Amino acid sequence: MTEPVQPVLRATPEAALFRDAMARVASAVHIVTTIGPHGRIGLTATAVASVSDAPPTVLVCIARPSRTLAVIEASGVFCINTLPGDGDELAEIFASRRGIEGEARFGSRRWGSLATGAPVLQDAVAAFDCRLVAAHDVATHRILIGEVLGLGGAAKSPAGATSLIYRKRQFESV
Ligand SMILES: Cc1cc2nc3c(=O)[nH]c(=O)nc-3n(C[C@H](O)[C@H](O)[C@H](O)COP(=O)(O)O)c2cc1C
Repeated sequence: MTEPVQPVLRATPEAALFRDAMARVASAVHIVTTIGPHGRIGLTATAVASVSDAPPTVLVCIARPSRTLAVIEASGVFCINTLPGDGDELAEIFASRRGIEGEARFGSRRWGSLATGAPVLQDAVAAFDCRLVAAHDVATHRILIGEVLGLGGAAKSPAGATSLIYRKRQFESV
């Protein structure tokens, strides 16, 4: 006779325990960018996932107070730039941890654009240039669904380039 599976958790976990559990999960780190009437803007995000390849579709979860979110919703476009291993300082800047705002955030690396005009990091591991096709509010965040209109980054990077991950509240190059 097989033993019944014991649930690890018997009740809704506290937010702090949830965050500690998520902190043990390694995540790729991305800069989500767009362009608006006041220029380029972006934020650091790990809550990014592939949705479908027919048509190519991705999602990103953004906190509703985000300044970048408001500009994405106005422009209807965004680009997910997946960071290379040496992108930790860029991730800090776009997480508002360096006191650098607006256009100045784009000063330290080379950026271009593809179909939508959203900023594309030239040496991204991959860049997914998107048209916003849907948005859903869940809890504190808004899930943005993007149809991928163009790809950048990896094709121009040397094979075997490193990626940036976030784990145990630290950046690591893998
Ligand atoms: C490693 C890391 C991952 C993050 N992931 C997300 C995320 O997935 N979604 C989000 O809304 N904010 C995320 N943040 C926080 C935003 O980057 C931060 O709040 C940023 O300052 C928002 O900028 P904005 O208000 O100018 O858009 C993350 C921060 C760090 C350091």
